[in-house]
Amino acid sequence: MEVDIRYTCSDVDWGLVSETLKRVGMAHHAPETHRRAFEASYTTVFLYHGPRLIGFGRAISDGAYQGAVYDVAVVPEFQQKGYGRLIMQKILERLSGCNVILYAAPGKEAFYRKLGLRKMKTGMALFKDPARMSERGFIE
Ligand SMILES: CC(C)(COP(=O)(O)OP(=O)(O)OC[C@H]1O[C@@H](n2cnc3c(N)ncnc32)[C@H](O)[C@@H]1OP(=O)(O)O)[C@@H](O)C(=O)NCCC(=O)NCCS
Repeated sequence: MEVDIRYTCSDVDWGLVSETLKRVGMAHHAPETHRRAFEASYTTVFLYHGPRLIGFGRAISDGAYQGAVYDVAVVPEFQQKGYGRLIMQKILERLSGCNVILYAAPGKEAFYRKLGLRKMKTGMALFKDPARMSERGFIE
């Protein structure tokens, strides 16, 4: 079955978004919080396999020269089939003309490297829970 690419947040099951992020080991919040974050984003991408949401991602951006990618995830049973790359390609298309930054989950750097992204040497972050981010390998 072909996947269906959607860019709109309407009819998204935010509970499933939260559950998926949890399943793949990423930061997850209450469904309503994800709805607010995705709806406030510059671009959102959702992949459906039939009626089933199998992956998504989003970017915040000024729409002129800077963009940042967040919450890229593919449900485990659909991983390694090119869907993560498809999500990123669609996000990057919509950020054309922008510098794009993101922070990869530890161990996922190679996935982004294959899309042309390079490691930043001077990336700095002010995380809400620095101890946890340090424990998870995101910051020194
Ligand atoms: C990371 C993730 C989005 C990749 O999606 P995916 O659909 O499994 O990846 P794709 O099949 O599109 O892979 C594209 C390429 O990246 C490679 N790749 C995918 N995951 C990789 C990983 N963890 N490490 C190294 N390479 C990886 C694939 O082998 C493929 O390479 P190829 O072009 O040489 O064949 C997905 O595995 C996922 O949701 N993981 C859990 C959540 C997560 O960590 N998200 C990223 C947060 S920063």
